[in-house]
Amino acid sequence: MADLSVNVGGTPSPNPFWLASGPPTNSGYQAHRAFEAGWGGFGWKTLGAHIVNVNSRYGALPYKGKRVVGFNNIELITDRPLEENLAEIREVKKRWPDRAVIVSLMVESKRETWHEIVKKVNDTGCDGIELNFGCPHGMSERGMGAAVGQVPEYTCQITQWVKEVSAVPVLVKLTPNVADITYPGLAAQNGGADGVSLINTINSVTGVDLDTMCPNPQVHGKSAHGGYCGPAVKPIALNMVGTLSHNPNFRLPISGIGGIETWSDATEFLLMGATSVQVCTAAMKFGFRIVRDMIDGLSNWMDGKGFQHISQFSGHAAKKLSDWGDLDLNYRVVAHIDEARCVGCQLCYIACEDAAHQAIRRDRQGDLSRVPRIDDEACVGCNLCSLVCPVEHCISMVGRDAAGYRSWNDYLKDGETPRGNYPLHTA
Ligand SMILES: Cc1cc2nc3c(=O)[nH]c(=O)nc-3n(C[C@H](O)[C@H](O)[C@H](O)COP(=O)(O)O)c2cc1C
Repeated sequence: MADLSVNVGGTPSPNPFWLASGPPTNSGYQAHRAFEAGWGGFGWKTLGAHIVNVNSRYGALPYKGKRVVGFNNIELITDRPLEENLAEIREVKKRWPDRAVIVSLMVESKRETWHEIVKKVNDTGCDGIELNFGCPHGMSERGMGAAVGQVPEYTCQITQWVKEVSAVPVLVKLTPNVADITYPGLAAQNGGADGVSLINTINSVTGVDLDTMCPNPQVHGKSAHGGYCGPAVKPIALNMVGTLSHNPNFRLPISGIGGIETWSDATEFLLMGATSVQVCTAAMKFGFRIVRDMIDGLSNWMDGKGFQHISQFSGHAAKKLSDWGDLDLNYRVVAHIDEARCVGCQLCYIACEDAAHQAIRRDRQGDLSRVPRIDDEACVGCNLCSLVCPVEHCISMVGRDAAGYRSWNDYLKDGETPRGNYPLHTA
């Protein structure tokens, strides 16, 4: 049986599944229930400055029958009293010594204010601190959250202040609302962070109500931009996690966050270089119980692959992230339609004809008359037909003889110009 335990920059956890700071992590009551369900870690809802929340505060992006493909909020940090939270953290740690309790913090950018709150948190027995430099709404307008995470100098400076007094490892939670995640990541490292977590939420407006003509969510006839999360943000988060873990100058452990709903989502983050993962929206949609499936799924996958420990595969996929210029220009695939699976909907034909390379024909006769045919010579192997096909495994991309690895950068090195491989038009 696989060993799922991890250690994130000095914070041990029996499994890599942590709840991310947010509504599911706002009290000791929730911490007890989460740990009973099996979560390895609990990112306590951000403590800090006094705030007042608005009604309502959440919005969602529904898409073709799915109610919450993306989720959006204009909620601030915790509105519960600091002392109450600290007492509950102390109590939770006593009862769950083997689990990771990471306390998220956000206060104004003054050295003494940071020292004051970190010293209070030191006394709780928590296992780590997470600096919320990511919240993109409400707090950022007051100079906190993403306003810090978007300026590498501030990120480095405040991390240093926290490290001066913190008795436990410090994770810096990064904002995705930047052009290049490398800069804030390296700034956290330079400030002495023990790890980073990413991503926090993405600036967004999920939609506009066509009756009231007000953006969502509405607060007495007005709205505000909010933070986007849930399944829709997973590709952005995976890219940012991969970018940092792939960078040879970046050496900190990563806690991966963003759109994780299943064990396989989580495993993708581990493969892209995360050591632990954090989940918020999925816990809000489905409850704490989803962790059981995550533990079982990851264990089974690791057993099947012969991995005993997460460190044996963490970052494996990130190593395969390459510059575009290093990809093989001679690699060729063409689409193949499995006639037995094809339902004859011809969506592949329409997509290829109107928006790709006109490489699909409808010239078959008899029983196969609705099954399109790929013109191998015209197909550029773009994947579009296989992506729009509604039947799984019906269209696959099949490798063709390659003429030896040669990338754009190889050509440049040799002072040559690559020949185009755009196929001849036969349509
Ligand atoms: C309603 C809501 C409130 C949140 N509050 C916080 C917070 O107080 N501190 C924080 O660091 N992140 C907060 N987050 C961000 C999450 O921790 C997480 O980074 C983000 O939602 C992406 O993960 P997900 O796709 O699993 O939700 C909040 C997210 C939501 C949806």
